[in-house]
Amino acid sequence: MRIDDGVKREILARADIGEVIGAYVTLHKRGKDLVGLCPFHGEKTPSFHVHPDQGFYKCFGCDAKGDVLTFVQRQENVGFTDALRILGKRYGVEVENEDPRAARVRTEKEAIYHANDVARAFFHRMLLEPREGAEARAYCEGRGITTASIEAFGLGYAGRSWDALVGELRRNDVVAEIAVKAGLIKPNERGSFRDFYRERLMIPTFATTGETIAFGGRALGDAEPKYLNTTTTPVYTKGRFLYALNAARRAAAKEDTLIVVEGYLDCIALHQAGFPNAVAALGTAFTPEQAREVRKVASRAILCFDADAAGLDAALKSIEMLTAEGVTASALRIPDGKDPDEFVRRNGADAFRALLAKPVAATQVKIDAEIERRAGKTEGGAIARWAEDTIRRLAPAEEQDRWRVYVAGRLGLSVDDLRKARLLINPLHFVPRGGEPNASRHIVPRTMELPSFEREVLALVLDEPALVAEYAGRIPPERFANPRLRRIWETLCEHARSLVQPSDVRAVFAGDDDAAATLASVSGVVRFNDAEERRARLDRVVVRFARDDAERRYRELGARIDRLYEAGEPIPNELRAEYEALGLEVKGQPR
Ligand code: UTP
Ligand code: MN
Repeated sequence: MRIDDGVKREILARADIGEVIGAYVTLHKRGKDLVGLCPFHGEKTPSFHVHPDQGFYKCFGCDAKGDVLTFVQRQENVGFTDALRILGKRYGVEVENEDPRAARVRTEKEAIYHANDVARAFFHRMLLEPREGAEARAYCEGRGITTASIEAFGLGYAGRSWDALVGELRRNDVVAEIAVKAGLIKPNERGSFRDFYRERLMIPTFATTGETIAFGGRALGDAEPKYLNTTTTPVYTKGRFLYALNAARRAAAKEDTLIVVEGYLDCIALHQAGFPNAVAALGTAFTPEQAREVRKVASRAILCFDADAAGLDAALKSIEMLTAEGVTASALRIPDGKDPDEFVRRNGADAFRALLAKPVAATQVKIDAEIERRAGKTEGGAIARWAEDTIRRLAPAEEQDRWRVYVAGRLGLSVDDLRKARLLINPLHFVPRGGEPNASRHIVPRTMELPSFEREVLALVLDEPALVAEYAGRIPPERFANPRLRRIWETLCEHARSLVQPSDVRAVFAGDDDAAATLASVSGVVRFNDAEERRARLDRVVVRFARDDAERRYRELGARIDRLYEAGEPIPNELRAEYEALGLEVKGQPR
């Protein structure tokens, strides 16, 4: 968007700096100047001077100074253009200099803002209506939402009527087409319109420049969906905005931190409890746009998402987004899986403040998540390898040792084990190299029995020779390590179709004393009463082959990863993904 040079001059000429600043700061006349307490630093005696005839302000305490535009930028924590818009709107200066098409879109947007505004005011009135709004007010009360919050957040109520808002919009000259585009009403089958929201507590979302851009409607009872929201309109795209950012912006600038929660009511509850720098992502993981919104007002974000799997997932994604935008992200873990709303209401603001004081750093959130995700699923070597990689990737060099201590603690490793993580491979397959001690042996004690399936298989089919035909294709002779047993199985497979009774087997090996002796030795190694049990056992053998293959592949990949580590090369994602997936498979299958 281009802004005409004249716009700034025009605004500086028209805007009354005393009036603008006076809206935020109590100013007293002193001679030609106005004097008050500086909004930019804490002070008890006024050293903040405004010079209306010269159009600038200066604080003798903190050296803040500038004109009406810099004041609005800093006070509202917005950029130059938004400051122009805010003042332009107030003093009737057209800020945008657009081509006619853009102007038409803008007009449509303006019309939608207006429609939303009419709706917001209407919902709000309804909530305060003695009879109509009683149930919704009771709902607020039940959830501990104060009247002050109802005012501050512009909460409202969409009543039982099917078309109350339709009528209200009409009375305010909002054309139906615009109201439909705004998502406020929808056409019905009979060619007229009905309200989109019914019997819901209405929560408006405001743009940082003050317009009403969207609504969330909370069911008062168990109606589904729990929240009905504005989806996409010309002025709103889910995932671009943060709820309550307009209210949180100033507080965020002061503390350089935003608290990010998932839900509307979590956010309101936090504001109420004295955390005015809270915003809500509204149940989605962060988008890059939202991360940028955060970045505009604060360089730190503390995520406060639900403790469930979805919340954790959202937190992880959000951390990625925020980190990519240069925001330092950390997360709170709320005890007992409560959401922030329940937590502050039950435990009070001080308890929440205590949580805020020690948020979990982004690196730790990820490591914790991974450790939990894999708990019991992957052997320690893979976690240690992953953790080591994560630490190197995420933590600044000087912090890495600190993270090794933490991770080692959680995994029950020694720090040294972790540092040697590139050598930590599945102890099943560990081959000490060049005298390097097997750092992982004590971590994951797991012994591998030598495959005894060969004897088992033979014993089973001796009892029930018909099974040979069933399993000949699935148990290839090459899988047998013992050449003598392999030859017997091979021969059995060749005669599979003639094998029905145990005597048939003896017939096949008639005259082969060696084979007969071997068969005698395996006979009775395992005994089952029926074919089903025998089949089950044989099936496990087949499954076992697949697992052996996976283990072999896992071992190969592990070695490849080790080589890349040692060479200081990056580990390709596909390689890592396959390795990790195999790790789960190797561990997850029945023995
Ligand atoms: P939650 O399901 O965690 O609900 O959704 P909540 O915030 O704790 O809501 P209350 O306390 O039961 O009222 C978190 C957020 O996800 C969005 C809303 O923005 C909600 O605040 N959400 C949830 C929806 O948009 N639709 C839904 O049906 C549910
Ligand atoms: Mn909740």
